Amino acid sequence: MFMKKLSKVMLVMTLFLIPMIAIGAGEKQETFSPYVDGKGNINVPSDFREKWVHLGTWVVTSEAAAGPSLGPTAPGTGIHEVYTQPESVMVYKKTGKWPDGAVLVMEACSIKWDDLPTGHVILAGEILDRFVMVKDSKDRFKNNPNWGEGWGWALFNAANPKKNISTNCKNDCIGCHEVAKNTDWVFVHGYPTLK
Ligand code: HEC
Repeated sequence: MFMKKLSKVMLVMTLFLIPMIAIGAGEKQETFSPYVDGKGNINVPSDFREKWVHLGTWVVTSEAAAGPSLGPTAPGTGIHEVYTQPESVMVYKKTGKWPDGAVLVMEACSIKWDDLPTGHVILAGEILDRFVMVKDSKDRFKNNPNWGEGWGWALFNAANPKKNISTNCKNDCIGCHEVAKNTDWVFVHGYPTLK
């Protein structure tokens, strides 16, 4: 009789308690994305250049940085290279929408120029910053000011690549991205890979 009761208790423990403990322990780290922790802090994967897909390049010119034949100095001066995961490209091309957890990394480098046999060439100098957006269609981090409009937003300086120096996406990012609101805040017209 006692043994029967005990085995019932054990059964209940196995079925409910142990899985509950396991979920509780995992809660802190496991989220919808390996680059986001339970509080919504964003990381940049270090191997995106080797493993992810290059979407496109922007050259924001500056007379000072790129040589006298190029236009006036602009606030975002640099060469901007944009990358995302291969699976996010596949989903975007099929559906026209970014899947949950899609990460866009934009690496901003300084501009160098040279006169080579091809002509006046512009090439990337040192890495300055990495801008990161993480798709979140479920509004998971309502109380975290780095999340809004369906994305998580982060900015890392090359000198300290693990520290997000952006503190509030409404002040630091979204105002400028407003012009791309109709394409889910992303400047997709600059990405030949998605066409
Ligand atoms: C001065 C305006 C401006 C600000 C501020 C700004 N962005 Fe952007 N962002 C742009 C423009 C314009 C592009 C595309 C063209 C380019 O790079 O020049 C872009 C591109 C990007 C991209 C590449 C994907 C895309 O949307 O096309 C990411 C990622 C990005 N920004 C993240 C951020 C984050 C995160 C912040 C805030 C920390 C931020 N941006 C602040 C204007 C801005």
